[in-house]
Amino acid sequence: MTVWIEGATGKAGRRVVDALTAAGVPVRAASRHPGEAPDSVTPVRFDWYDETTWAASVGGAEAVFLKGLDSDDNAATIITRFLEAAPAVQRVVLMSAAGVEQAPDHAARRAVELAVQNSGKRWTILRPNWFLQNFNEDEWVFARALRETNELYAGSGKSRISFTDTQDLADAAVTVLTEAGHDGHAYTITGPESLTFGEVAKVLAKTSSRPIRHVDATPAEHRKHFEKSGRPTAWVDHMLDLFKMVRAGVSAPITNDFEQLTGKPSRTLAAYAEETWRPTNQR
Ligand SMILES: NC(=O)c1ccc[n+]([C@@H]2O[C@H](COP(=O)([O-])OP(=O)(O)OC[C@H]3O[C@@H](n4cnc5c(N)ncnc54)[C@H](OP(=O)(O)O)[C@@H]3O)[C@@H](O)[C@H]2O)c1
Repeated sequence: MTVWIEGATGKAGRRVVDALTAAGVPVRAASRHPGEAPDSVTPVRFDWYDETTWAASVGGAEAVFLKGLDSDDNAATIITRFLEAAPAVQRVVLMSAAGVEQAPDHAARRAVELAVQNSGKRWTILRPNWFLQNFNEDEWVFARALRETNELYAGSGKSRISFTDTQDLADAAVTVLTEAGHDGHAYTITGPESLTFGEVAKVLAKTSSRPIRHVDATPAEHRKHFEKSGRPTAWVDHMLDLFKMVRAGVSAPITNDFEQLTGKPSRTLAAYAEETWRPTNQR
């Protein structure tokens, strides 16, 4: 079985590529800018907004890992068209997000889940919670403010999130792609603890020996902060919606789906921080 991976250069997709490769599964790694890769990985050009790239990119892959199109209201339509144009693909693993199942059917990300479920393909949905790696790898969500001003900028109050390590998401993806019994199932992949941003800031500060603190922005301040990125308004709106969900408590629950899938405990903030925020480990 060859697996085609969308978002193969991203925080999650990159680790899915590595984890599948380590498990001996041939991979086609899709990106708008495919680069060098080891022998077992075929880098392929793919752009959701250039349909002429789709068929050649997927090639003969029997399974796909999709992360979908964030902050695009037409995502479900585009993904339906994409799956219709890939008759050789039998198996779809969709990376959605924790809590999406609670959204109304017409909400963009829930509509994507439904599009995959109604595609006629065998499907599994993985719903990770907020990634720990956003703190050092997502420039505009948290990483830049943390690096430049030691601010963990998040309008979250005392709400909690059971953050997911992207490595756990990748390990869960390998399990559902390589083992039988996961068709028609959705799994919510969370970390083992539900934390406020204030608690996260304390751990990052202690591990990095830097004066990192949580800045609890109002929605208006948060909008201005995200607008500095120069990203489209749809992305800014999407981020503010996500924080609204956090404040409503949607991101707090902890599940044991990861442990049940892989037999391993999920990774902690402390483990992530040790690996990434120790002064000797920071790049
Ligand atoms: N971040 C979180 O905390 C979090 C938590 C739960 C769920 N999720 C879900 O995870 C997804 C984001 O994954 P991520 O954080 O791993 O991504 P990411 O690090 O933001 O990377 C984005 C990826 O998308 C690719 N991409 C962007 N525009 C594209 C286009 N037009 N056509 C094809 N590929 C395109 C990029 O590839 P190139 O630039 O190389 O083309 C890159 O690989 C979202 O759907 C979100 O709902 C995220």
